Amino acid sequence: MDYDLLVAQATSLLADESNFIANAANFAAFIYHEIPELNWAGFYFTAPSGDLVLGPFNGRPACTRLPEGRGVCGAAVTSGQTLVVDDVHTFADHIACDSASVSEIVVPLRARSAIIGVFDIDSPRAARFSEGDRAGIERLVQVFLNASESELMQ
Ligand code: SME
Repeated sequence: MDYDLLVAQATSLLADESNFIANAANFAAFIYHEIPELNWAGFYFTAPSGDLVLGPFNGRPACTRLPEGRGVCGAAVTSGQTLVVDDVHTFADHIACDSASVSEIVVPLRARSAIIGVFDIDSPRAARFSEGDRAGIERLVQVFLNASESELMQ
């Protein structure tokens, strides 16, 4: 993957808009269509309760609410780090929304000091996400955060 090109394209896609939901929707669609071998790409946002609640995505309908700290997504929030899981069947606390998903990457959305949610990508192929993909997808998520404004970020 040419992540330099994807970063330039995502920057251009989001350049003229700062609305958080509009940019999240287009960002999820962009990732889903530009990165091959995915079956889901989208956002979960941190609710006041601590649960992660479904946001804009592309792919099949997904679980709407992930309890605080649960699943790969909750673990990424707890650790504050990107999580890459090569085979979700080996991750005991994985929450299966689509049985087609085999590997997964979850990037926390860090705004100032708080984690306001995650960007989650699933693939039907085992070990789909390399170290290079992790670094590239983190750069892309930062493009989204830099371009977008939300009261979640206060
Ligand atoms: N698998 C995730 C849940 C979200 S879906 O993959 C869209 C998890 O374990 O947190």
